[in-house]
Amino acid sequence: MELNLEAKKILLKKIPHGLFICTVRDGDEINGFTASWVTQGSFTPPLVVMAVRADGSSHGMIKRTNKFCLNVLRSDQKELAAIFFKPQKGLGGRFESTAYKYGELGLPILEDVIGGVECQVINSIEHGDHTVFVAEVLSALLHKDGESLNLSSTGWSYGG
Ligand SMILES: Cc1cc2nc3c(=O)[nH]c(=O)nc-3n(C[C@H](O)[C@H](O)[C@H](O)COP(=O)(O)O)c2cc1C
Repeated sequence: MELNLEAKKILLKKIPHGLFICTVRDGDEINGFTASWVTQGSFTPPLVVMAVRADGSSHGMIKRTNKFCLNVLRSDQKELAAIFFKPQKGLGGRFESTAYKYGELGLPILEDVIGGVECQVINSIEHGDHTVFVAEVLSALLHKDGESLNLSSTGWSYGG
């Protein structure tokens, strides 16, 4: 069977996505990147599913520590999301633009966002150019509820 690549691209781009900043920490090193391939996977226990580029700096950090934090952005934080996908001077350099504190699992949680959930990886699938991590939400910090940023509002595309 031959896959219709054009149809595949159009159809997969229709999957709606939120836009998050995933933060990670390995010892003294912290990093963060913009992530849209994120969804909830279970109520009990509370699970999230996230696909992470295998060639990114954060990928190895998640594999080594089995932890990550998903920071939920406000609908007016497109600029912050842009900082976290652009190249940075050095690992963790993107954090110069925004304040953070460490959460209960020791992961950076951005301060000027809706909030963040710290997650413990329970399983992963390494296949293709992204690794799919399934993780349990172990801590949740809500700064201030509000409307969250979603991919369709930005005009950006990640998918297909
Ligand atoms: C709109 C948008 C959505 C993105 N979503 C993801 C994603 O879900 N997973 C991922 O690994 N990278 C995603 N990226 C790419 C990363 O943000 C980007 O490659 C980043 O530089 C990776 O940082 P790192 O190498 O420091 O980990 C996205 C980029 C954009 C522009």
